[in-house]
Amino acid sequence: MSVEIPISKIVQGLEPSATLAMSAKAKELKSSGKTVYDLSVGEPDFITPQHIRDAGVAAMNSGHTKYTIASGIPELKKAIVEKYKSDYGFEYGVNQIVVSNGAKHSIHNIFFTIVDPKDEVIIPAPYWVSYAELVKLSGGIPVILQTEESNNFKMTPAQLEKAITPRTKILLLCNPSNPTGVMYNREELEAIAEVVIRKNLFVLSDEIYDKLVYGDNKFVSFPTICEGLRERTIVVNGVSKTYAMTGWRVGWTFSPVNVAKKMGELQSQETSNPCSVSQFAALAALTGSQDCVLTMLSAFSERRDYVAGRIREIDGLSCPDMGGAFYAFFNIKKYLGKKIGGVLIDSSEKFCLELLTQKQVATVMGSAFGCEGYARASFAASLDVLKAAYDHIADFVMDK
Ligand SMILES: Cc1ncc(COP(=O)(O)O)c(C=O)c1O
Repeated sequence: MSVEIPISKIVQGLEPSATLAMSAKAKELKSSGKTVYDLSVGEPDFITPQHIRDAGVAAMNSGHTKYTIASGIPELKKAIVEKYKSDYGFEYGVNQIVVSNGAKHSIHNIFFTIVDPKDEVIIPAPYWVSYAELVKLSGGIPVILQTEESNNFKMTPAQLEKAITPRTKILLLCNPSNPTGVMYNREELEAIAEVVIRKNLFVLSDEIYDKLVYGDNKFVSFPTICEGLRERTIVVNGVSKTYAMTGWRVGWTFSPVNVAKKMGELQSQETSNPCSVSQFAALAALTGSQDCVLTMLSAFSERRDYVAGRIREIDGLSCPDMGGAFYAFFNIKKYLGKKIGGVLIDSSEKFCLELLTQKQVATVMGSAFGCEGYARASFAASLDVLKAAYDHIADFVMDK
């Protein structure tokens, strides 16, 4: 008799991460000997800066190899508080910080700690792939609010108000946005804050790209907008993107004390502390010279300009201005319903799969971000890779 362990209903309903799935396909193709231009995954192509790696090695060699306090080492919490204060002039207590295994884990902790079954979480689309799945895992209901390219994919206060029901608990804000790179300015955030306060919502503000901001754009952290937001906002951030530390897995939250206490307790049962060595490396990242951030930012900025120019040159493609982060989210609707390489392109998924198969460029379909008719391509890759990739994309859409 064959026996199969049944999978729980909640995990059966879970969608795997589309970005990681595309990246896995790209790797598979690469291992078959093909040159692949991988613009699928959202991570800096730079290695973690030397002084941060050194701090990790030093931590290991000086014996920081044991369990730490589950919610993070006090030195790191203090550094997080001080950095935020010096960047945004706003002070949190160290008892309001929980350090976790990456920002993704922080977001999981938040939903698990404050979402009750059937609570609704408003997620503006296009959205980062994991939000809706993490809401579902905690028993909540993701409510997708569709934004428009004509409004630069920004949610308006009127759209927000319309999406609110008696069960709405949380508004999720991702600023700068993954996948579009679009940023809200102060006035736009003030208008959203007015609705949030009047309608008694709580906000998860994912600010993981706050330091990757280009040109004249100015990042504004949500709780600093006006009185009354500190109590109802949980900010998420981490070292992955700013310091090219995706593999180290360190993220954190700023939240009201009661939430921080419960998230720390939850974490103590689920994972215990984030990696001790990584916490010391993150401490060096926050307290050391920030020149490495500026160097990486300047490279990203050059690539952003290059990529925006290339996309807009290709017939029918368009993308909003990328104020921050390192993604281009481009409109491919002109090519839906057409044949490329003899294959009917009937969805953004088909577009991305054929682009990978026919031209070896890995991107992610807009449908994975709740927005059919688009594709996301990271520009956290060298200019040489980007040049070759966009030559291939241009050839692909021209069916060359
Ligand atoms: C918007 C956003 N939030 C959170 C994360 C997760 O970051 P981490 O590597 O710290 O888990 C990502 C990573 O892609 C992201 O794009």
